[in-house]
Amino acid sequence: MNKRQIIHAAKNNYAVSCQREMLTPYYRSSDHAFNLLHGDTFELLPQFNFKFDMIFADPPYFLSSGGISVQSGKVVCVDKGDWDKSMSQEDVNAFNLKWLSLCREKLKDNGTIWISGTYHNIFSVANCLTQLGYKILNVVTWAKTNPPPNISCRYFTYSTEFVIWARKSEKVPHFYNYELMKHINDDKQMTDVWRLPAIAPWEKSCTKHPTQKPLGLLSRIILASTKPGAWILDPFAGSSTTGIAANLLDRLFLGIEREEKFAAIGKARREEIENPHTYTIYRSKIPDIVKSSENQMKLLECCESNRVESLPFLCDDISL
Ligand SMILES: C[S@@+](CC[C@H](N)C(=O)[O-])C[C@H]1O[C@@H](n2cnc3c(N)ncnc32)[C@H](O)[C@@H]1O
Repeated sequence: MNKRQIIHAAKNNYAVSCQREMLTPYYRSSDHAFNLLHGDTFELLPQFNFKFDMIFADPPYFLSSGGISVQSGKVVCVDKGDWDKSMSQEDVNAFNLKWLSLCREKLKDNGTIWISGTYHNIFSVANCLTQLGYKILNVVTWAKTNPPPNISCRYFTYSTEFVIWARKSEKVPHFYNYELMKHINDDKQMTDVWRLPAIAPWEKSCTKHPTQKPLGLLSRIILASTKPGAWILDPFAGSSTTGIAANLLDRLFLGIEREEKFAAIGKARREEIENPHTYTIYRSKIPDIVKSSENQMKLLECCESNRVESLPFLCDDISL
């Protein structure tokens, strides 16, 4: 199959007929900067035409196959849920091709996408990106500074995840906040190895998602690739870490999450930062945000005029 046929087949498999009705958000913050849809990303994405500046996706890694690990000194099963059950490599490839194809249509021409993963899914994601015409910019290694031990003692301790950064098209230039990244890295060029801790206890204040990403990781991603006022999409939102980091950094967010219990965590987390004191405290706990505030003058110079538009395909009359 050529590239065109691959894209066509991927769209057809999951596309639902385009509905013209407005979508009802599961939750929308009063300033409309945080928007959460409850449902299947494959059904919801084709229902609107909005284009985003950046997409972050933490898709299922398909690694839940009954393995064990240690948490707080106890042996625990590492299965995350039915949404993460192991699948054949063929099925993993088909899944990745479908959602990456849908997401490409939702990106501005100069937009970029970040996808996190482990060896279970990341090679498939990289292949799909290339097939679909994205250009891979970097593969960031997130080196966890506090990984859990490997209890089998038969392997190296698993301490890394990968985050691929790609742009929509080969030719259209992307935005990279080079100076800010350098400032954050003590005035040396930021490398593609990021030493950052796993989530801290204060990030679990609204109960924890089984694969919740740290706000520190999402903050760096957002600061590196967007300006204030940017629209960010997360098609597998989980507990909406992307949305919380986006709003702590004056960016706008749309998330899609299939499981209501996880969407509820996202809503609770957003409500938590409505309190200005909590908002300030959380910002102060994220080193990259503190450093970016030191750099505020430079940052403001490169901002576009902030857009206050809200998502045109969402209706306002939601009962919360
Ligand atoms: C790896 S988790 C994301 C965790 C998130 N980054 C966080 O920090 O909380 C993936 C999420 O995607 C959701 N999911 C899986 N398939 C989905 C689908 N087809 N549509 C929408 N959400 C889906 C799962 O319920 C799960 O919460």
